[in-house]
Amino acid sequence: MPKEAWGSRLGLILAMAGNAVGLGNFLRFPVQAVQNGGGAFIIPYLICFLLMGIPLLLIEWSSGRFGGKFNNHSTPYIMDGMGKAKIWKYVGVFGIFTNIAVVAYYTYIESWSLVYVLHAVFGTFEGMSQSDVATFFTSYVDIFTTSTGIPFEAVFFYILVLALNIFILSKGLGGIEKVAKIGMPLLILFGVILAVRGLTLGESGKSELFPDANAWDGLNFLWTPQFDSLSNPKVWLAAAGQIFFTLSVGMGTIQCYAAYIKANEDIALNAVSAGFMNEFVEVVLGSSIVIPIAAGYLGLDWVLENAGFGMAFQTMPFLFQQWGEVAAAFSGVLWFGLLFFAGITSSLAMGTPWMGFMKDEFGWGKKRGAWSFGALALIMGLPTVLLYQYGVFDEYDYWAGTVSLVVFALLEAVLFSWVFGINKGWNEINEGSDIKIPQAYKFIIKYITPLLLLMVFLSALITPYQNEWMDSISNVLNGGTWVLDNSSLIKNITNYGLKEQLQSAINQSDIDFLEKK
Ligand code: PHE
Ligand code: NA
Repeated sequence: MPKEAWGSRLGLILAMAGNAVGLGNFLRFPVQAVQNGGGAFIIPYLICFLLMGIPLLLIEWSSGRFGGKFNNHSTPYIMDGMGKAKIWKYVGVFGIFTNIAVVAYYTYIESWSLVYVLHAVFGTFEGMSQSDVATFFTSYVDIFTTSTGIPFEAVFFYILVLALNIFILSKGLGGIEKVAKIGMPLLILFGVILAVRGLTLGESGKSELFPDANAWDGLNFLWTPQFDSLSNPKVWLAAAGQIFFTLSVGMGTIQCYAAYIKANEDIALNAVSAGFMNEFVEVVLGSSIVIPIAAGYLGLDWVLENAGFGMAFQTMPFLFQQWGEVAAAFSGVLWFGLLFFAGITSSLAMGTPWMGFMKDEFGWGKKRGAWSFGALALIMGLPTVLLYQYGVFDEYDYWAGTVSLVVFALLEAVLFSWVFGINKGWNEINEGSDIKIPQAYKFIIKYITPLLLLMVFLSALITPYQNEWMDSISNVLNGGTWVLDNSSLIKNITNYGLKEQLQSAINQSDIDFLEKK
């Protein structure tokens, strides 16, 4: 039997771009940008793309193709083949587990998108007030209420979407390629239409409630570079986190896809193309839809106060109504359809490491691999689905979608440059490549990327009270103590059960100092 491989170069690039382009581009990026100062966020973001994003893409693509030469299709085996110590095999387990942990809630959001497409078609939001639309969402995720008459509607559609993923995955790489070839062009088409709407909205949003609302305020806020916050670690952390999430690095997903690339086929140009395609969708399309449209109707101040994940589901369907019934239905289909395609091409990617591992280890076939993956995702996902209202979702996202990515990326960067060896690694990157990666990247991959990753990790470990780095540093210089934020990793790890003791141990005068600022 011939080795399993991608059907065509176009299929490979679209599948990889589909993996990267996801809910993060449309839901996470605009919110991160707004919460971190708009134009102040963009500079660290682009620097992180060049110094961590691109290097990690090259590391992961080349590690994956290297593993594929030895018939390894998941990070435990791929990493085991790169470093002799046994530990790397266990590090590689992260690269399977994180995918299942993330896909569990990712497919839940995917199912919301699908349901909202249906509601847009059936005109559910017609004539609803802003708060009606918002309440519609909160009652949807309260699993005991239903908007279509189906009991446990939210759970029902979640399982349906999981089943769809299982079905496609059981068709193998060919199925994934097909979905990417249909989904990616449609996603870009839908995104461009909505972005044109966002960019041409101008001051048309003169609603009676917000006569000053102007879509351009949103765009100016995002795109006026500000240098003042470059010294703020909080902004850097957020930028690095977004780059990881959006490029799908630090999860083992890319290595798995790359393991099905033939030995002499280009990876350098492919990796860079897929990465830039993701950035185009994120930076151009991702910032031209929600923010300008919301700013155009509700004003920039509203956006700054309400920027959050909910905007996509709780606000957009209301704003679309301002364009009339037909346009509202049409826009709703475009917007939620786009989210659905973005989501499914990513969740399929998250299924492949598990399937590749079970095949390599136990010879499991596609069907068995796909069904067991779905069952695991369901088990891990049900708590976040059933307990959504209690904030389980955010806590879970933090560990599965942020912390483990940084840790894994740091370890794989060390393995690649320092254990496997940068010379061998650089050869792997350039073998069969259609472009010449600048020599400077050899240096960056060896020194800069691991160093930056280490800094990101350490800062996450000791994040100070309310993320106020400058004030906390000056407090320490004034003889105070370093008060950890609730979000700091150290506190998160030690916190459970000890919350009260730790809280009372915090020096109140330090908090007063920080709060006075
Ligand atoms: N990159 C995807 C997004 O932007 C998320 C993702 C992470 C997908 C890791 C696959 C693996 O939404
Ligand atoms: Na992305």
